[in-house]
Amino acid sequence: MFTIRAFFVFAILCLFLVRHVYSAATLSCAKAAFVPHLPANTTILSATVVTSGGSYGGGSQDKDFPSSATGLPALCAVQMQVYEAHSSYMVGLFLPSNATYNERFMTTGNTGFGGGINWPAMGTFVQYGFASMSTGSGHDSGAGDASWALNNPEALTDWGYRAMHGSVLVAKQVVAAYYGSSQKFSYYSACSGGGRQGLKEVQLYPNDFDGVVVGAPPWWLTHLHTWVVQIGKWNLPVSGANRIPATMFSPIKEEIYRQCDPQDGLTDGVISAPYSCNFNSTALACSSTKTTSCLKPGALETFNSLYSDWRDPSGHFLFPPFALGADYDSLTSSTSAPSGFGTDFVADMVVNDANWNWTIFNTSIVTQADKLNPGGANADDFDLGPFQAAGGKLIHYHGMADSLIPTGSSILFREKVVEIMKGVTLNDFYRMFLIPGMGHCRNSAVAPWYIAGGGQTIANSSHSVPGFSDAQHDVVLAVMAWVENGTAPDSIIATKFEGDDDIRTVVNQRPICAYPSEAKYKGTGNVNASSSWSCQAGSPISIPQNKLGH
Ligand SMILES: *[C@@H]1O[C@H](CO)[C@@H](O)[C@H](O)[C@H]1NC(C)=O
Ligand SMILES: *[C@@H]1O[C@H](CO)[C@@H](O)[C@H](O)[C@H]1NC(C)=O
Ligand SMILES: *[C@@H]1O[C@H](CO)[C@@H](O)[C@H](O)[C@H]1NC(C)=O
Ligand SMILES: *[C@@H]1O[C@H](CO)[C@@H](O)[C@H](O)[C@H]1NC(C)=O
Ligand SMILES: *[C@@H]1O[C@H](CO)[C@@H](O)[C@H](O)[C@H]1NC(C)=O
Ligand SMILES: *[C@@H]1O[C@H](CO)[C@@H](O)[C@H](O)[C@H]1NC(C)=O
Ligand SMILES: *[C@@H]1O[C@H](CO)[C@@H](O)[C@H](O)[C@H]1NC(C)=O
Ligand SMILES: *[C@@H]1O[C@H](CO)[C@@H](O)[C@H](O)[C@H]1NC(C)=O
Repeated sequence: MFTIRAFFVFAILCLFLVRHVYSAATLSCAKAAFVPHLPANTTILSATVVTSGGSYGGGSQDKDFPSSATGLPALCAVQMQVYEAHSSYMVGLFLPSNATYNERFMTTGNTGFGGGINWPAMGTFVQYGFASMSTGSGHDSGAGDASWALNNPEALTDWGYRAMHGSVLVAKQVVAAYYGSSQKFSYYSACSGGGRQGLKEVQLYPNDFDGVVVGAPPWWLTHLHTWVVQIGKWNLPVSGANRIPATMFSPIKEEIYRQCDPQDGLTDGVISAPYSCNFNSTALACSSTKTTSCLKPGALETFNSLYSDWRDPSGHFLFPPFALGADYDSLTSSTSAPSGFGTDFVADMVVNDANWNWTIFNTSIVTQADKLNPGGANADDFDLGPFQAAGGKLIHYHGMADSLIPTGSSILFREKVVEIMKGVTLNDFYRMFLIPGMGHCRNSAVAPWYIAGGGQTIANSSHSVPGFSDAQHDVVLAVMAWVENGTAPDSIIATKFEGDDDIRTVVNQRPICAYPSEAKYKGTGNVNASSSWSCQAGSPISIPQNKLGH
């Protein structure tokens, strides 16, 4: 009697276990297992088991990201192809094993004009436990190569926004099938071109992500890239009177730091308030008493233009300039033509003429670019209301010494959102952090800059901020805490490690405050310790500014 009852209990338990295991079981990491779970518009290219410690990447064929993700946790690496009516794009997905999966989905982005799957960044995010995704964006190219866009509007649209959204939809479906349930939260983090892709998602598809982190977004492509042509043109020809001699690079930089570093309240090798620096460029001018290491009138005019608003001949504002402290040389030092970052955009995306001659450039090209808005890629819908209504949280950051995408363009973006969303307390869902001294997405010789943002890496560290893996220091953990716990970040503490690779030695740390508040040294204590700083109320910076000798 007793044994029969025990048998039934045992049998029911077995049935329950089998049923439970069956319903919760994940798919095996094999192409065939995924096929029944894919939408009709998607094919699976590969599903590969990666064992703990292994690597995965697209190799040299992945022109945007030719290096592999390494030191991976055990995962299933999936490659798929999604078909639109007249184009298609690849999707890459890292699905971590049960043991490390954090039940969350993370999407990352591409760079510049690039197309390819960002396996290295996915490799970083999978270390947190995220199922991690990147879209190939519909073409193969490096960040600086736009030749694929010539007469190719479908590929342009994929790159502009379509491939990202389509990839998110398909990837979420695969995640749900693989783990037996949908992700609990969906996130995005990327910098530069990836920052633009993130803003585009926020604007067009407010339900794709719960939390979004964007760095240095080139949201106004039609003005950014044409500005790049313009500044290159101002500094050409190399033999012209307007050319800033290469030998003046260091003296100019020194003079900018000499004047602007103390003006922010602390002489520490970091310009923390470049847009309020009252810079007198006459100090750089040649005179009867100063005949060497100086700028002659034509070159001084070019210098002033590089650090003043760009305007059309009627005086209409077109684009903000470099911040003081951001080097002008990487975009203007070419001796033959403006940077391809500008000219290729115009040739391949605007005028559709590979032989377009930049010497005929004038501001009418900006009007033409705006009319066309290639690929619909400008991220200029400033009404973020739908994203806020969906409960989304947005963290936006930009280095104050960015020499590729002017910091002022991010300030302008925020200003436009303030204008459109009158009466909304933006900090309830959208916070911006300007990182003093940081270049494009990463790096500073002296300032703390590392916040585990998109594209930021520290050698010898797989992810997060070594030793400080918390929501106060790591922007990914910060957006998660905001989305999941309602803990909004008033500041994010940036870190600089010795040589930017020795994780044993912290050189300095400093809070980066939610704009428009600013980090101020308390006046006592080690300046290199974040506890010696506090966030103080600040005033929003107004763009346009139009300064320097005008
Ligand atoms: C993942 O967990 C589920 C139960 O939640 C289990 O059925 C499945 O076998 C696990 N898969 C792996 C690969 O460990
Ligand atoms: C692919 O199919 C899925 C599921 O039906 C759909 O959500 C998605 O919009 C489709 N994508 C494209 C690019 O047609
Ligand atoms: C700018 O500097 C020059 C010389 O370096 C000086 O003569 C001039 O008065 C300064 N202008 C202002 C507005 O301070
Ligand atoms: C571009 O135009 C300039 C000025 O007319 C001319 O000197 C130059 O040869 C042209 N370049 C090319 C590649 O055609
Ligand atoms: C700008 O250049 C175009 C040719 O590319 C020319 O037709 C137009 O007149 C120019 N506009 C100005 C204001 O110089
Ligand atoms: C702070 O760090 C800088 C290096 O960035 C170093 O030169 C300086 O001596 C440090 N100051 C203190 C008080 O530790
Ligand atoms: C939310 O708060 C709980 C309790 O403090 C903490 O354990 C958890 O890690 C937090 N979640 C996030 C995403 O920060
Ligand atoms: C970090 O990695 C670099 C090479 O990438 C190596 O030279 C250095 O010794 C490493 N430092 C530490 C602290 O592991």
